[in-house]
Amino acid sequence: MFIGPKAIIHLDRLVHNYRIVKEKVGGRRIMAVVKANAYGHGAVECTKALASDGCDYFAVFTFEEAIELRDAGIAADIFVFSRLHPDILSDAVDRNITLNISHSDDLDSVIGFHAENGESPKVHLKIDTGMTRLGIAMDEAESVLLKLKDADGIRCEGIYSHYATADEGDLGYANMQLGQFNSILHSANALGLTFKIKHFSNSGSVLNIPESGFDAVRVGMLLYGAFPSDEVPADIDIKPVMEFRGPIVHVRRVAAGTQVSYGGVWTAEKDTNIGVIQTGFADGFPRPWYDGGSVSYHGKRYPIAGRVCMDQLMVDFGNENVEVGEDVLFFGENKTDSLRVEEISDTIGSTPYVLLTAIQGRTERIFSGKN
Ligand SMILES: Cc1ncc(COP(=O)(O)O)c(C=O)c1O
Repeated sequence: MFIGPKAIIHLDRLVHNYRIVKEKVGGRRIMAVVKANAYGHGAVECTKALASDGCDYFAVFTFEEAIELRDAGIAADIFVFSRLHPDILSDAVDRNITLNISHSDDLDSVIGFHAENGESPKVHLKIDTGMTRLGIAMDEAESVLLKLKDADGIRCEGIYSHYATADEGDLGYANMQLGQFNSILHSANALGLTFKIKHFSNSGSVLNIPESGFDAVRVGMLLYGAFPSDEVPADIDIKPVMEFRGPIVHVRRVAAGTQVSYGGVWTAEKDTNIGVIQTGFADGFPRPWYDGGSVSYHGKRYPIAGRVCMDQLMVDFGNENVEVGEDVLFFGENKTDSLRVEEISDTIGSTPYVLLTAIQGRTERIFSGKN
């Protein structure tokens, strides 16, 4: 029998969130972002669950992640965010995987490949409107558009950009980015270039800048049931997909004054029951959360006692009768307990992105609510 942390992945909630987001964006196409193992939730299972509810576009970061989905039998469109590498062009054609043109050199690679092989992978142009990561710089965009116009046989079906601050209260910078993107679309139009799929929005802008929905939205975090920040209107009914929990493996009564865990930063103020939970920071538990943090058990919160260790953490259960073998909830929601991952990330100065993608290693993923 497995003893240790578990991440129950509620696929029915994932599908629920997909439907809520789909409605929010007026039925637009959703490119479900399932990179980084679907933000720690399990890429293959999540993709299959979304595909069975009609989602027909998925985004990953690496080409290997795309291959994993194809090998698992996913037939839908798959888009790769990472920088294009010329060595993968042939496989991308064979496996119908859509690539990213984020520099004029990338377009040259695809044009060269087409000249040699008479075929092209599907590609989208990525414009850097202010993220300053991957993307064609604004002052190079016009020349790339011209090159694309003159190139024959390149299957360029999309154009997109990425927001740096769409989940913030001050949307000045995001609106500047939107203006830049619109100016590029205008230039493309003037050159007679049209793109089947224009996309810009992520979770933050779905809530904060609905006017940038274009033809498709690239959504990750909202599908997993967390809000990207506390500066977006939390006005849609999304449910946490991951329920992260760990088992109580030992309980002991300690006297007031007893010190618990590394560094001696926590001491029992009165006689109390200290439970040992078999989950630690090596399993993805957010270590800084011991400072003021808590777990939920039988519908009540109990403080974490002392520093979180690599494999275990301790909880101050007071006078509660605690059953060895039962689980405590770290974050997520079940019939009796609820603790939002956003509460933890806000308290420790992190983000749900960091906390969810950290869940890996020895944590057992259990998929529930499959249809
Ligand atoms: C290019 C790109 N688009 C969309 C997303 C999805 O963002 P979110 O999870 O905030 O919806 C990401 C995630 O980091 C991304 O890198």
